[in-house]
Order: sequence, then C-alpha cells, then structure tokens
Amino acid sequence: MANPTEANKPPRVIVYGVGAMGATVTRLLLDKGARIVGAIGRSPAKVGRDLGDVAGLDRQVGVTVESDARQVLARGADIAVVCVGSYLETMHDHFALCLEHGVNVVTIEEEAVYPWTTAPDLAQSLDALARVNGVTLAASGAQDIFWMNLITTLLGASHHVDKVIGQCCWNVDDYGPEVATHLNIGQPREAFDQYVSEHGWPEFVARQNLEALVSRLNLTVQDIRSDVTPVLANEPVICRALGIEVQIGSLIGTIDRTVVTTQEGPVFELSMEGRVYREGENDTNRWQVQGEPNLDLINESVPYRFTTCSSLVNRIPDVIAAPPGLLSLDQMGTPSYKHGTF
Ligand SMILES: NC(=O)c1ccc[n+]([C@@H]2O[C@H](COP(=O)([O-])OP(=O)(O)OC[C@H]3O[C@@H](n4cnc5c(N)ncnc54)[C@H](OP(=O)(O)O)[C@@H]3O)[C@@H](O)[C@H]2O)c1
Repeated sequence: MANPTEANKPPRVIVYGVGAMGATVTRLLLDKGARIVGAIGRSPAKVGRDLGDVAGLDRQVGVTVESDARQVLARGADIAVVCVGSYLETMHDHFALCLEHGVNVVTIEEEAVYPWTTAPDLAQSLDALARVNGVTLAASGAQDIFWMNLITTLLGASHHVDKVIGQCCWNVDDYGPEVATHLNIGQPREAFDQYVSEHGWPEFVARQNLEALVSRLNLTVQDIRSDVTPVLANEPVICRALGIEVQIGSLIGTIDRTVVTTQEGPVFELSMEGRVYREGENDTNRWQVQGEPNLDLINESVPYRFTTCSSLVNRIPDVIAAPPGLLSLDQMGTPSYKHGTF
C-alpha cells in the first residue's frame, strides 16, 4: 500500500467512538499496521480501559480509552476515524475539534456523504475550518462502494438512462444502540406516526446517497421527495442492539425511500430498509437501470456491517492525501482495495 504519511511511517490514528463499528474498525486498523495513538469514548464503562478490551479483542493494545477528546487530539495524529452519530447537528462539534487540531477525519456519519443541502450551514463551516487547518473531512461506509461507486461504474455501460432504482436491506442488530434508537425500534406504530407528524422524519442515508450519486454523474437535481414506512413486528422479536423484545405491532425497522428527479431527465430512487432480522436473513443490495440497455446489479448477500468498516479503513490513505476541505462522497476518487499494511 502506498504510504501516505511523512517519513514512511504508518498513519497515526485516533479511534473516535468505540461502539459496534469503532470496535471492528480497531481490529482492522491493527491488522493494517496503523499506529493507534488515542481512543475517545464516553461511557464510564469504557473510559479508563484498554482499547483492546473495550473493542472485544483478545489482546491489550496499550491505548487507554479517554473521555477528553481535546486532550487526545492535542497529542497529535494524522487522522481520526469517527464512528459516533449520524447527523451533522450532533457531529459538528466532534468534527470541528478534530479539524481545529489539524487532524484529518474519515467517518461513517451518514449525512457527511452529501451534507450540502440538508445541513448547509454546518457543512460550510466545517469545510472552511478544514481548509484553514489544511486537513480533510470525508465519509465512507456502506454508501461508498455498494450504493455509489458500484452504480456509477455500472452506469458507465449505459447508452441512455431513464430510471435507476436501488433497494437495500440491512440488519439493525448488526449495529449498536445508536442506530436502533434512531429508527424507533420497539416503539408502537401509533407513537411512531405521532412522532413523524410532530417532528417530521430526518432523511437518513437514501437522500444524501442519491444526491452524491447525481452530483458524481454531473446531473442537476430538480426535485427530491422522501418518505418513511414503518416495518412492524407480526410476532414478538428480540432486538439485540437494544436488549428488548419488540411486541406485535411495534417497529422492527423502517423503509426510507427517496426519489430524485433531474433536470436532464433521469430519475433516481433508493429504498433503504433497516430492520431487525430473523434467523438466516442476509443483507441485500439490488439496483435496476431502466434505459438502453436495461441493467441489473444484484448482491444477494452483502455483509454491510463488516464492509462499512473495511471501506472506511481502506479510505484512510485517500483522505490523508486528499486536498483540504469537507469532501462529499462525489468529490472523492474511486475507492480501491489496499493490500497489506499501511
Ligand atoms: N455509513 C455507514 O455505512 C454506517 C454503517 C453503520 C453505522 N453507521 C453510523 O455510525 C454511527 C455509529 O454506529 P455504531 O453501530 O457503532 O453505534 P454504537 O454502537 O451505538 O456506537 C456509538 C458510539 O459513539 C460513542 N459516543 C457517543 N457520544 C460520544 C462522545 N461524546 N464522545 C465519544 N464517544 C461518543 C458511544 O460511546 P459510549 O459507548 O461510550 O457511550 C458509542 O460507543 C451511527 O450513527 C450509525 O448510524 C454508519
């Protein structure tokens, strides 16, 4: 793997957020020979312990999980791998702290995939902060490969496109409580409906993903429509992420759907189903291109949990080498496998 850092050394990495994803990322970073120079956590159950223990590895890594992010960042690093939350509103200050300390950020925070229209002020302020400090903030995760770059590559074989339809399904229990809580898992249908009618439903993954896709294709958004459909339990279902039993009629997931029409004509639709699986179910990824010719892309079994983390880690050299600023996914180059160690 090309070495992105000075003096031919592997990158110095901070693990920011040691939940379900941060734990897997830690193992992959160690496999790749990254120098983990800090770990940031929140709960008293994790803070003060060795990162290897917290991440469920069978060895100590000699890095203590700390709660004072400022202190960890002040010691310096090439990049922080941030696996904490989903929206810029909650993530802005975490990212800003990294950027202020001259530390690049690669994250699985979903809105950072394309934050320019859903959180424009926060995105612009982070972009400015990154430029001033000469560092980069970029997102990766399942979007990077399975919902973006595979599709743009497939469309390279199209002569004319009328419509692109994506359908994906992933298991809520593959992730931590952050995701399950966000999706209202376990809430009765009526409570969910009331919540959505009072607060609206924050667009989650599908919108940002399609906007990045459309931008990469140099098309112009004309209209964006999103909706959410609750997926309800028809028998009691255990949600491991929350440690609860979901009752019949309550939520085991949601289907978030966004449709983007473009001024040039092609229409893009993505339905993203996140729900608690039953035994034997697999994550799926299906895309259909209507046009000349019609094309299909089908991944019958996609391990999104793992590939979220492996895609993120593979992006580390790209992000360190990228120009300063907040780079949405359409602005990043094509991802690739990185063999061996950093
Ligand atoms: N883009 C993608 O493909 C993709 C895929 C999966 C997940 N995600 C997103 O990634 C995020 C993390 O997912 P997950 O499954 O790892 O969730 P999780 O297990 O709930 O982990 C979230 C972690 O963030 C930590 N955290 C929260 N506030 C913090 C703070 N102020 N300082 C330090 N750490 C803090 C929590 O720490 P404590 O445990 O100490 O409280 C927890 O460990 C979610 O928002 C999820 O939606 C994205």
